[in-house]
Amino acid sequence: MKSYFYTSIPTFFLLSTIVLTGGITRATNDDSQWLAAEAKALMKTGWWSNHRRVEDHCMWPGIRCNAGSVVEIDLSGHGLNGSITPQIGELSKLKYLNLSWNKLLGELPYSIGNLTQLAVLDVSYNYIQSIPKAIQKMENLVSLNLSWNSLTGKLPSSIGNLTQLVDLDLSNNWLVGPIPSSVSNLTNLASLYLQSNKLNGSIPQEIWRLRNLVALDLSSNRLVGPISSSVSNLTNLASLYLQSNKLNGSIPQEIGRLKNLVALDLSSNWLVGPIPSSVSYLTNLAALFLQRNQLNGSIPQEIGRLRKLVALDLSSNMLVGPIPSSVIYLADLASLFLQRNQLNGSIPQEIGRLRNLVSFDLSFNSLVGPIPSSVSYLTNLVSLFLQNNQLNGSIPQEIGRLTNLVALDLSFNRLSGHIPSSLGQLTYSVTFYHNKGLCGSIQGFLPCASSPTIAFEDIIRATEDFDIKYCIGTGGYGSVYRAVLPSGKVVALKKLHRLEAEQPAYDTSFRNEIKFLTEIRHKNIVKLHGFCLHNRCMFLIYEYMEKGSLFYALSIDEEAVELDWTKRVNIVKGVAHALSYMHHDCNPPIVHRDISSNNILLNSEMEAFIADFGTARLLNPDTSNRTVIVGTYGYIAPEFAYSLIVTEKCDVYSFGVLALEVLMGKHPGELLSTLSSSSSRVQNFMLNEILDPRLSTPRSRKMAGDIAFIAVIAFACLRARPKARPTMKLVSQEFLHINSPVAMPLHEISLIELKNHEMFMSDENHK
Ligand SMILES: *[C@@H]1O[C@H](CO)[C@@H](O)[C@H](O)[C@H]1NC(C)=O
Ligand SMILES: *[C@@H]1O[C@H](CO)[C@@H](O)[C@H](O)[C@H]1NC(C)=O
Ligand SMILES: *[C@@H]1O[C@H](CO)[C@@H](O)[C@H](O)[C@H]1NC(C)=O
Ligand SMILES: *[C@@H]1O[C@H](CO)[C@@H](O)[C@H](O)[C@H]1NC(C)=O
Ligand SMILES: *[C@@H]1O[C@H](CO)[C@@H](O)[C@H](O)[C@H]1NC(C)=O
Ligand SMILES: *[C@@H]1O[C@H](CO)[C@@H](O)[C@H](O)[C@H]1NC(C)=O
Ligand SMILES: *[C@@H]1O[C@H](CO)[C@@H](O)[C@H](O)[C@H]1NC(C)=O
Ligand SMILES: *[C@@H]1O[C@H](CO)[C@@H](O)[C@H](O)[C@H]1NC(C)=O
Ligand SMILES: *[C@@H]1O[C@H](CO)[C@@H](O)[C@H](O)[C@H]1NC(C)=O
Ligand SMILES: *[C@@H]1O[C@H](CO)[C@@H](O)[C@H](O)[C@H]1NC(C)=O
Ligand SMILES: *[C@@H]1O[C@H](CO)[C@@H](O)[C@H](O)[C@H]1NC(C)=O
Ligand SMILES: *[C@@H]1O[C@H](CO)[C@@H](O)[C@H](O)[C@H]1NC(C)=O
Repeated sequence: MKSYFYTSIPTFFLLSTIVLTGGITRATNDDSQWLAAEAKALMKTGWWSNHRRVEDHCMWPGIRCNAGSVVEIDLSGHGLNGSITPQIGELSKLKYLNLSWNKLLGELPYSIGNLTQLAVLDVSYNYIQSIPKAIQKMENLVSLNLSWNSLTGKLPSSIGNLTQLVDLDLSNNWLVGPIPSSVSNLTNLASLYLQSNKLNGSIPQEIWRLRNLVALDLSSNRLVGPISSSVSNLTNLASLYLQSNKLNGSIPQEIGRLKNLVALDLSSNWLVGPIPSSVSYLTNLAALFLQRNQLNGSIPQEIGRLRKLVALDLSSNMLVGPIPSSVIYLADLASLFLQRNQLNGSIPQEIGRLRNLVSFDLSFNSLVGPIPSSVSYLTNLVSLFLQNNQLNGSIPQEIGRLTNLVALDLSFNRLSGHIPSSLGQLTYSVTFYHNKGLCGSIQGFLPCASSPTIAFEDIIRATEDFDIKYCIGTGGYGSVYRAVLPSGKVVALKKLHRLEAEQPAYDTSFRNEIKFLTEIRHKNIVKLHGFCLHNRCMFLIYEYMEKGSLFYALSIDEEAVELDWTKRVNIVKGVAHALSYMHHDCNPPIVHRDISSNNILLNSEMEAFIADFGTARLLNPDTSNRTVIVGTYGYIAPEFAYSLIVTEKCDVYSFGVLALEVLMGKHPGELLSTLSSSSSRVQNFMLNEILDPRLSTPRSRKMAGDIAFIAVIAFACLRARPKARPTMKLVSQEFLHINSPVAMPLHEISLIELKNHEMFMSDENHK
């Protein structure tokens, strides 16, 4: 799974036109013939078609000469396309060639083997499909970067001839087959990056001879077999990434000799046996990731020696026993993930010493005892997951001090007593259900008793018994009124009229809405303050949403302009977080089934709230997921029409439509069918052409990056095959750390590129 976005920032704006300082000396006949030949070769590349004066070729952009010969070419990020012409091989004095971040395709020409002086070759981030055998002749190559291309076939063993190599990066391609044992000849290698390919077979024993390696990344391949104890020979290693393979056997005890390791990731393999206590010798470790294996035994007490640890993830293993008390010495820890093991005993009382913790997850273990009140010292906590344990006692009242908390899940425990009232205002998603007897009246929560906190009479008075003048619209069912309560609080009321109330379908969706909205709570889901189910009248009381529906806001020009790019990005993020909460944090999962711009409401700050749970459904293991068609035309996932099976992926599709709608300012309409037909029309569209014309093109790179990011996600959500769509959890996680500006200005990004973006591609749709 390649789940990250562009991580490096091209410097195409900063293009250095380093110019020859010495000037071209009057040359001999031979020399000038040579120069003319070089200039001609440059012309043939087609990269300097605007430059006609061949005698000035040393001053062309991106070129540097020495003694009149071209020694450096840097055209990184210049929008170069097509293939590299063979004449490049005639620039035999070339030492540095940087063609990264372009759109070059095809093979590297065979003639590249003639560049025997070349020390640096960087063609990363292009569409190059193969490495010619001739590359073995480039014996002075020190740095070779062909990452993020479309290389297929085997990794040629001739790579072993490039004995001067210090940095080799072939990551993020489609390379198959084994890692050739000839890599052992590359004894100068300091970094070897082969991650995110389809390499198989076992890790060749020869790799462990490359004693100069500082960074080794073989992650996200299909490597099998054990991790050799010879790993300990690579004592210079600072990072070792072997995650997401099929490595088996146990973690060698000898790993403890890699004293310089800063990052060790062996996660998502098939490793068994215990966590060797020798890991405690790796005292420089900042990150230790062993999650998603089948490790057993208990967590070594010595882990407390890893004082520099910032991230520790041992989740989803078969670890037993207590949480070692020594974890409290890991004072730099920002994330501690121990969920989904079989840990027992209680949470160390002194856990409050981990003042730097941001994410803390102990869910799905067998922990007993109370939640230590010292958790209230963890003031940097953003997420705290303790659900599915056997914790008892009451929730420490001081937990309300955790003002940075965004998500708190305490469900499926044996907690009792009062929910601290301060929590409701602070947190973003709180889940308490399935405990012994929690109750409370957090603002926004319904009290334990099912009667509404707002007096019926107040409602009748405020609306003059539902006078039409207070009616602000008609929803999916019933009418919506605005009411100002005696306290000054403004609420929205959704009311069924008598005739409607007698129709079973309306009644069901009404009760459905009550069922869902009283059980869940999320910053981006509309809050139900109360309800009334009298025979006389049936109504629901909601938080009032100043700006009405997203559909309305987009359809009115002034409102649409007020919805600037920042607000729109936040709307999409908010909806994603709420859907992820419904699909993945609620048990059983809740599928909304009618996500559309009509059902997204906006408050006065233009923040988004999902509303209208009338057709929502639980995905229950014991009930059929087959159903009748519901939803809004234009948002319904294509497969639903024939399968009639509800899955979370129906919402994911609708979310994709919604996200595009927010970018375009209108429903994407036929773009949806154009997209799925892979017609060349999409190819010709650039991202900036579909953006809402009522807003000016975003200026900042950050915003352009966010928009491209949303488009990539939207397209992934619109994939025809439900399985190929990402889960909302993934989408939500990606939104939590958009940190990477997109590589290109929006007018250079074609829709087809976004559609084919690597993000969220799993192997099965990685074609
Ligand atoms: C190639 O150019 C890019 C963009 O300027 C730069 O980030 C990268 O470091 C260069 N590659 C090498 C090997 O110098
Ligand atoms: C290459 O780029 C040029 C200039 O941007 C454009 O005119 C040309 O059509 C492109 N060629 C291909 C094959 O995409
Ligand atoms: C290298 O250059 C020589 C002489 O210019 C030429 O004959 C040969 O074909 C070139 N080799 C490649 C691989 O291009
Ligand atoms: C590459 O290495 C192989 C075996 O190590 C050797 O036979 C061959 O001559 C080398 N090629 C070049 C161009 O040096
Ligand atoms: C290779 O290029 C990619 C993309 O430009 C860059 O992210 C990576 O750091 C480079 N690898 C090395 C070893 O410099
Ligand atoms: C490795 O992958 C190749 C190509 O996909 C396949 O032909 C070969 O059988 C695989 N080898 C092993 C050991 O799995
Ligand atoms: C490269 O390694 C292979 C086997 O690992 C060896 O047979 C060969 O001689 C080496 N080639 C060079 C050029 O060192
Ligand atoms: C690792 O080092 C040990 C001891 O120096 C040596 O016996 C072993 O052969 C080495 N392993 C490899 C793969 O080089
Ligand atoms: C590891 O996997 C390989 C190949 O998949 C298999 O042959 C071997 O028996 C496994 N070893 C262990 C210790 O499970
Ligand atoms: C851990 O798993 C291994 C291999 O699966 C097994 O042999 C061993 O007995 C287990 N140890 C414990 C303490 O459960
Ligand atoms: C925790 O689990 C271990 C092994 O599963 C067991 O031996 C131990 O008695 C348990 N401890 C507690 C406090 O339940
Ligand atoms: C309904 O869907 C849920 C979630 O995908 C699944 O766990 C459950 O098994 C399904 N129920 C049936 C009867 O297929």
